[in-house]
Amino acid sequence: MPPEISPSCEQLALRARKNYEEQFETAPQALSRAPGRLEILGNHTDYNNGYILSIALELSVVIAAGQEETSPRRLGAWSSTFNERIDAGLEEPAPLAGSWINYPLGVLRELERSGIRLPSINLSIESSLPTGAGVSSSAALELATAEAAYGMLGGRPGDPMEEARLCRRAENDFVGVPCGILDQFSSLFGKRDHFLFLDCGTLEYDRLSLPDSGLAIVIADSRVKHALIDGQYARLRAHCANATRRLGELLDRPVPSLRDVGLEEFLECRDEVEEEDRKRAEHVIRENSRVLSGVEALRRKDIVRLGELMLESHSSSRELFGNSCDELDFLVETASGLPGFIGGKLSGGGFGGATVNLVEEDSAGEFQERLASRWNSRFAAPLRTLQTKIGDGAQLL
Ligand code: GLA
Repeated sequence: MPPEISPSCEQLALRARKNYEEQFETAPQALSRAPGRLEILGNHTDYNNGYILSIALELSVVIAAGQEETSPRRLGAWSSTFNERIDAGLEEPAPLAGSWINYPLGVLRELERSGIRLPSINLSIESSLPTGAGVSSSAALELATAEAAYGMLGGRPGDPMEEARLCRRAENDFVGVPCGILDQFSSLFGKRDHFLFLDCGTLEYDRLSLPDSGLAIVIADSRVKHALIDGQYARLRAHCANATRRLGELLDRPVPSLRDVGLEEFLECRDEVEEEDRKRAEHVIRENSRVLSGVEALRRKDIVRLGELMLESHSSSRELFGNSCDELDFLVETASGLPGFIGGKLSGGGFGGATVNLVEEDSAGEFQERLASRWNSRFAAPLRTLQTKIGDGAQLL
């Protein structure tokens, strides 16, 4: 299967507008865009108050939106990805089991909770992001909804981080996924050709420029089902919480999160932590130092070192955190032997979805073809690869 060509933001905007007019028989009043994200380093560190290094993508969700006064108030939403129109009540919104509507609906509920009075809202949604691949199409949908609503209704918070927090609350409390802030932060704060660093404990962040422009980002989607709602993510969180509690006892001081444990002190007492909790904690503690090393490498413009750290991160997911799988391991191992490859790992929750690969731009086409051909001789479902660049964060168009 040849590498896919993704529609541009302009193409998505044209389609969103056209579908809006067809669905709602009027012209939209706002157009917004929010990107997907890839986790470069800092796997499962966010809800442990640790560090993350990520990028926003050019691949994104684009929404054409409008408002109207109806009684009772409702959200009408068309999604081209799901080829489906759903209308949901806004008076006392309730989640619809397993539906994509919960992301925009949850955001609207949080906006109203934050003091913005909502009219009825219409949305026409387009996306160039694969769903279920670990590139956060859901956070992109949340942020694009928030941007469109703020654009039409005003009330944008003074602190931009509050917008990311609001969208995370929508996902935690309405959709029911106990995620950290990585996805929403990255989708909102992204900047073209920049890596994002976040300290999830203090929410201080930085943008680090790309060492050189000849870098391609290749997403290799295993299409192994990746669903965070099914409990694996929550189980990993629980192991991290157990380890945090136990380390507090062993170190005999308050340990609010794994971020407060240094690697050396951990290594001294780790044998007294229950095995599964210990392995999860070791992954997180080592990931935190890898993020800091990655930031230093980027400051030195040393992309090769960043690539090595990504490979270490993947091995740690495989051996310590237990959130890789055969398909992801195959992708990373195979990619490592191909010309132009700089570094790669699983991205996000794990257990399937995609790997992120940093590849020299000149080799990116051949890299995708060779990776796909090796994959296709081993697995039945063909590999989907996508080449993208580091893009800007959520915005009104
Ligand atoms: C998912 C979650 C994030 C983060 C990653 C793992 O993407 O949504 O909050 O925990 O997994 O780093």
